Amino acid sequence: MCGIVGYIGHKKAVPVLINGLLSLEYRGYDSAGVAVLSPDNNEYKLDIVKDKGRVKVLQDNKELENLHGNVGIAHTRWATHGIPSKENAHPHLDNSKSFAVVHNGIIENYIELRQKLIENGYTLYSDTDTEVIPNLIHMNYNGDILQAVSKTLKELKGSYAIEVISPLFPTKIIVAKKDSPLVVGIKDDEKIIASDIPAALSHTNKFYFLDEEEIGVIEKDSAKFFDINLNEVKKDIKEIDWNAESSEKNGFEDFMLKEIYEQPNAIRETIGSRLSLDKKVNLELDGVDFKKFNKIFIVACGTAMHAGIVSKYSFEKFCRIPTEVDMASEFRYRNPLIDEHTLCIFISQSGETADTIAALRLAKDSGSTTISIVNVIGSSITRISDYTLYTHAGPEIAVASTKAYVCQVTLLNILALYISEQLGIENKEINSFKESILELPEKVKDTLTTIDAIKEIADKVYTQKDLYFIGRGTDYAVSMEGSLKLKEISYIHSEAYAAGELKHGPIALIENGITVIAVATNPNISEKTLSNLEEAITRGANSVLITNQDIKNDKINYIINIPKIDSILSPIISIVPLQIFAYFIAKNKKLDVDKPRNLAKSVTVE
Ligand code: G6P
Repeated sequence: MCGIVGYIGHKKAVPVLINGLLSLEYRGYDSAGVAVLSPDNNEYKLDIVKDKGRVKVLQDNKELENLHGNVGIAHTRWATHGIPSKENAHPHLDNSKSFAVVHNGIIENYIELRQKLIENGYTLYSDTDTEVIPNLIHMNYNGDILQAVSKTLKELKGSYAIEVISPLFPTKIIVAKKDSPLVVGIKDDEKIIASDIPAALSHTNKFYFLDEEEIGVIEKDSAKFFDINLNEVKKDIKEIDWNAESSEKNGFEDFMLKEIYEQPNAIRETIGSRLSLDKKVNLELDGVDFKKFNKIFIVACGTAMHAGIVSKYSFEKFCRIPTEVDMASEFRYRNPLIDEHTLCIFISQSGETADTIAALRLAKDSGSTTISIVNVIGSSITRISDYTLYTHAGPEIAVASTKAYVCQVTLLNILALYISEQLGIENKEINSFKESILELPEKVKDTLTTIDAIKEIADKVYTQKDLYFIGRGTDYAVSMEGSLKLKEISYIHSEAYAAGELKHGPIALIENGITVIAVATNPNISEKTLSNLEEAITRGANSVLITNQDIKNDKINYIINIPKIDSILSPIISIVPLQIFAYFIAKNKKLDVDKPRNLAKSVTVE
């Protein structure tokens, strides 16, 4: 999804902006551009270079050499309104060419605003919703840029993170945000603005996080913030414990593979000092009266939602509270039954997913208690929800989520244990479950050794068009995530089915050579999953079994053995071979594993 970078300081802006855009490439985009203010005979000129295509196309554009200034804004666009083209790429200018704007988000009332501008004599040259912003600023400008921006923002419906520069105020970048992230990195007499922390990490780990409808006036040695009515707002600087190295590939061919390998350590960080044997779980949730809840909702999107699905088992087992998992995009519109007796848990790697934010707001407005499981520190969800628990997975760059998922599931299980202890529920298994959580990093590390065996399977089946995953209980839940990984990065059609459901329809699709992957880690139901796999084999399926049980069966083409663990936690182990499988299929197909087509790391629009 669109990315924003801005720079003001003593360095030439262009290289900083280009590097920032390169580090945001993982978000997915189709065009890129920069605007720079350069000194020109005691005055300043505003230059824009933009085009459709990769940041590399922009970087190779000779016109960039003429942009010498120290103040600039930059953008990668992921088309929503208007095809990817030079005209639609950002930055956009107003008709007088005084104000350059980059924008993330969607202006929902742009048709109405375009009409208003046209009636006032303005011409719009692109198909974008963004182009109304610089023109409205121009229309509202009477010498005071803050007034003009504030008035403009009040006219906008929808979401925005914007940067504005102009020769009329050459030592400032004006920024603002609503429902789309924006941070201001602080480094002595330099400021680096970004939609995502990794774009600024090579410069600083100190940030201001803009809140909803806030405006910032950023100069090289100062940063001031205002609410939409221009009352000054005092903000604290937050220090992020991520470093630039953690957002680089470090010798791995792709971020996804690096992040798969980072999983043991990431889980170790998630556990941190929250869990130890013979002590109560330690989470910063003082003040929550868990006794009042009679219902838990877990709400999220994509992989984060899958983390919720596998964790439901733990909440029901240890907390004895009915738990429902919802997709945020459905939850927000289905009038869910929520009140002060409901605990709503939201999961999000980025903390910026538009649907999850909307669902969270709905839950808050309905009087429930909200706890969020988030990876990106200071992100929007952390600022809206009543309580936040961080996964501490470190930056996740590949669009397809891997390490964030295992950390989310780990943390959700720790939360379930915490709630159980707070409720005083006796469960003989709690201590052995804690032991199992503490063993996760080593067991995930051991599971990484299946890589060669998995690659061998991927090498054989990567040309197939359809693939099926089956399992029961948590094995079914993890199958959904395995299937999503495959779809996301290999573009192979795949479905996950509860193994027992296979014969109620989907078995009709099984024919000679179709691959069926079964996950069977629960000793009580593995035999049943195996029978379902055999039903597929009988109809000609090519079969793969991921298991931690002692299963010997000559009819199965490939058996991948993984470490034994409590079946509630097994998805954290069994997802690893499924991630590696999707990875090698995509590599065999010579696809861009980190930046799959049409997808974005952080989906900040509905
Ligand atoms: C997008 C990403 C997925 C991610 C989902 C939710 O669809 O491509 O990888 O799982 O958003 O993102 P979140 O940041 O809320 O976890």
